[in-house]
Amino acid sequence: MTSRTYIKELSKKKGESVIIYAWINARRNQGKMIFLDFRDITGIAQGVILPSSEALETGKILREEFVVKVEGKVNERPEKNIKKNVLNGDIELEVLNITILNESKILPFPIEGDTRKIDEPNRLRYRYIEMRNERLKKNIINRSKTQHFIRNFLHNENFIEIETPLLSAPTPEGARSFVVPSRTHKGTFYSLPQSPQQYKQLLMVGGFERYFQFAKCLRDEDARGDRQPEFTQLDMEMSFVTEEDVIQLNEKLLIETIKNCYPEKEIQQIPFPRMSYQEAMEKYGSDRPDIRKDRNNPNLLAFLWIVDFPMFEKTGEDNFDNTGEWTFTHNPFSKPRDEFFEDFMQKKNIGEILTTQYDITLNGFEIGGGSLRNYKIEALKKTFEIMGYEEKKIKNNFGHMLKAMEFGAPPHGGIAWGFDRLMMILEQEPNIKEVIAFAKTGDGKDLMMNAPSDISEKQKKELGINK
Ligand code: AMO
Repeated sequence: MTSRTYIKELSKKKGESVIIYAWINARRNQGKMIFLDFRDITGIAQGVILPSSEALETGKILREEFVVKVEGKVNERPEKNIKKNVLNGDIELEVLNITILNESKILPFPIEGDTRKIDEPNRLRYRYIEMRNERLKKNIINRSKTQHFIRNFLHNENFIEIETPLLSAPTPEGARSFVVPSRTHKGTFYSLPQSPQQYKQLLMVGGFERYFQFAKCLRDEDARGDRQPEFTQLDMEMSFVTEEDVIQLNEKLLIETIKNCYPEKEIQQIPFPRMSYQEAMEKYGSDRPDIRKDRNNPNLLAFLWIVDFPMFEKTGEDNFDNTGEWTFTHNPFSKPRDEFFEDFMQKKNIGEILTTQYDITLNGFEIGGGSLRNYKIEALKKTFEIMGYEEKKIKNNFGHMLKAMEFGAPPHGGIAWGFDRLMMILEQEPNIKEVIAFAKTGDGKDLMMNAPSDISEKQKKELGINK
């Protein structure tokens, strides 16, 4: 009797002696007996310390959230005490010996019930405690299971998982970049990637043909319910594909993921419907319309592809990185649809050019987007010219991309899912924070780690800041 038994396995071990490791979830004195609820990652079980037990003295000083090792015997409950359809409802662990591995102060808030009602700074400051809550724990576990399924699926489809750098140069995705000052090259900065867009295209030039990654993306923008400054994309790129290939593969992956990880869900329409950007705007006034037929059905998933986006839009005031009259609608690497290619190369009818961009939406949220890319140097240059970039700026910002396109770049395209957003919808959560283990506040703070925070004068000096 040396190995550990997980709590969810206890009812299979009736009559046996076991060792469990657990937290005290609840403690009740009843006469001379002490009842304890034990909790580990797999669930909860009731235990009892009988008056005759050697464990009684320790039992008296136990408090909620103490960490214990228990040696005990799994007893079947008498018929009248059986709780049907409850984990371990048919057993009770008779505690023979109990060792306190660590004590706990009284928690800053209770972990039972709906922790979403607790004030947010408290929740995020003590996230490691909130994680003991059943709902939050389930969300994080389901996220892991879903990632596991997706990884397997993509490996089976001959994708190669490749990590790309975080310390990098700016990638334009329409937001601001976070920057990191360089110590060794004072006065210069790395940019944290808004997405692995450029790297994944370079991987295609490198001949990998099918890449994916669960990628950390960093965007210096205000958080919203469905937005965090640091989030995760399921990012992929493929060589020698059409828009249809990318759409088909992603649709299959989404359907299989739902079937396997969320069998209780119902997909409204398969194949997923498609709608042009123009139709969506005219009919719904939104490029991510919620087309659910029954909004009261919490398990209904209405996927919708949005296609035929305009490639360029007039430069708006918030377009900090642009001086020209036009800017890209998604990212500057997208390829126009074939029928607009000539106009594009001749810089004609710019406002009417449609791109190969496709967005995938779900229940009114944009959960992903991608496109085919301009893999020929002249075409890629044209986008920057249309945006009014000077030759020098093109070379400085995107010279490496243009150069790569000169060395046998294959036709390629891809997509990225907002993985947190998808998980938020699947878990029926109102906010993306509920599916992220360590989330940030609306104004981008990590309250638990106290970030962002000041750094020492020594560090500043080393980095050439304020000096
Ligand atoms: P895009 O910028 O559309 O495309 O991002 C892809 C998806 O990422 C999600 N997303 C976010 N999720 C949480 N918080 C945020 N701040 C946030 N910003 C975006 C959205 C979005 O659909 N490189 C391209 C993809 C490609 O073309 O392959 C890209 O990043 O769900």
